[in-house]
Amino acid sequence: MNITSAQFVKGIVEADEVLEKDIPQIAFIGRSNVGKSSLINSLTKQKDLAKTSSFPGRTRQINIFLISAKGGSQPKADQPPAGAKNSGGNSFYFVDLPGYGFAKGSKDDQEKIQSLIYWYLLDSDYRQKIVVLIIDASIGATENDMQMLYSLKEQNKNIVIVANKVDKIKKSEVKNQLNKIQEVVGNYPIIPFSSQDKIGISELLNEIFK
Ligand code: GTP
Ligand code: MG
Repeated sequence: MNITSAQFVKGIVEADEVLEKDIPQIAFIGRSNVGKSSLINSLTKQKDLAKTSSFPGRTRQINIFLISAKGGSQPKADQPPAGAKNSGGNSFYFVDLPGYGFAKGSKDDQEKIQSLIYWYLLDSDYRQKIVVLIIDASIGATENDMQMLYSLKEQNKNIVIVANKVDKIKKSEVKNQLNKIQEVVGNYPIIPFSSQDKIGISELLNEIFK
């Protein structure tokens, strides 16, 4: 499936009617500064759709993007065979969450952000088609990452793990580092990814839309 358009809908900090619609939600979660917003820009091929920053704690609301996608996973999706399913458009929400584990900022702020993430992913009635858990490939799975994975698993979420910023690892070390992450997270698909070097985009889109 190819993304044909992507637009910002709104940023929310509490229950909102926008999420009541019958549009499948795909959520992106991970440590603050791990590259969630950049990854959404890479997937949608838009530079500034989601706001990014080198300072952790950039995303402070739950930002919702409306994504239109078309076609199957075959290359010539714009010319589907007659009668093919999936030839029409499909709508999805990409949900860009604030990051966890950001140590700076006031305690009050931190707590607000943590409870926003937990509310949307774990306590609310919202269902996600997929939760994309983004781990920094060069750092590996942190305690906070494992806590999040455990909580998502406990609620039977459909989880895909992304090992992000693989461009930061020496080529000769990539395999080793990915194996280490796999050992820690267990039996989940891990997609090596880099927004900087454009690695993993089609693989992640295939996972998300399958
Ligand atoms: P918060 O919203 O603060 O939680 O951060 P985020 O996870 O949305 O991260 P964001 O996309 O804002 O990126 C954080 C920093 O990482 C920025 O300086 C990006 O340029 C950098 N970054 C993002 N993706 C990559 C990548 O693939 N490789 C490298 N080397 N840097 C990246
Ligand atoms: Mg962000």
